[in-house]
Amino acid sequence: MIGIFDSGIGGLTVVRELMRVAPRTSFVYLGDTARTPYGNKSSRTIRRYAIEDVRYLISRGAETIIVACNTVSATAMDTLRIAFPNIRFIDVVTPAAKEAAKITHGRIGVVGTRATIDSKIYQQLLEHAGIITAQACPIFVPLIEEGWSDRLETKRIVRHELAPLKRMRVDTLILGCTHYPIFESVIHSVMGKRVLIVNSASAVVEQIVRQGLLVPASTDILTQIFAFTDPASHTIRLAERWIGRVISIELADVGIV
Ligand code: DGL
Repeated sequence: MIGIFDSGIGGLTVVRELMRVAPRTSFVYLGDTARTPYGNKSSRTIRRYAIEDVRYLISRGAETIIVACNTVSATAMDTLRIAFPNIRFIDVVTPAAKEAAKITHGRIGVVGTRATIDSKIYQQLLEHAGIITAQACPIFVPLIEEGWSDRLETKRIVRHELAPLKRMRVDTLILGCTHYPIFESVIHSVMGKRVLIVNSASAVVEQIVRQGLLVPASTDILTQIFAFTDPASHTIRLAERWIGRVISIELADVGIV
C-alpha cells in the first residue's frame, strides 16, 4: 500500500495525478489539516510532525511513502529515512529538480514555502543547471486553502510575488509546493506562456511510474483512503473540488495536542 502525506490538502494534487495515471492504485492519503501550514514553521517542528504523519501511515499499512510536501521533502528526508529504515520514501523535490534541469535554457525560477526556499535544496540540486532565482511565496498556501484561485485579488498578489522572477527572465519555473498547481493557470498567465512550468506533483508521479512502483489492485482489494487530522467541512468541500468527486474523509489521530 502506498502512503501519501502533506501538511494539508496540497498533496491531493499528487493524488489527483496518481488517479489520472494509475486509477487502480491503492493508497492512504493523510492531510495534516489541523496543523497546516508547515512552511512557516521551524525545521525542528516540521521534522516532528513528519515523523508523526509517517507513523500514522505505517499504522494504516503503508510500505512506500510519497512525501507529497516540498516543505517536508526539503527539511526532513534524512530524519525520516533514519527513523523508518524499512520504509521506501519518495520525495517531491528531486523529481522536480531533475525535470527542470532537463528542460531549462539556463534560467530557472523556484517558488515554494519559506522553509523550502530557506533550505536551499533546489538551489543546491540545480547549481550546475543555470542561474537560479528562488522566491518564497508564503501567502499562496492560505489563499489556496481558502479556495481563492479565481479571484482578481489573487492575480494581483501572484503578480506581485512573481515580479522578481519575471525581472530575472526565468525560462522555467518550478512550482516547489504541492499546493501551487492549483494556481497553475494564474501563475502561467502572469509569467507568460513561453515560461515552462514544472509541477512537482506530476514530476513525482512520472518518476514512480518509471520506477515501476505502481501495482494495480484487483477490484476487490482496491483501497483508497483519505484521512485528515481536522476534517472541517470547508476543507472537505475544497478537497472534493480538486479530486473531482465526492470522497469520504476519515478523522486521523496522529497523536496531536
Ligand atoms: N504543500 C506543502 C509543500 O509542498 C506545504 C504547504 C505548507 O504547509 O506550508 O510545501
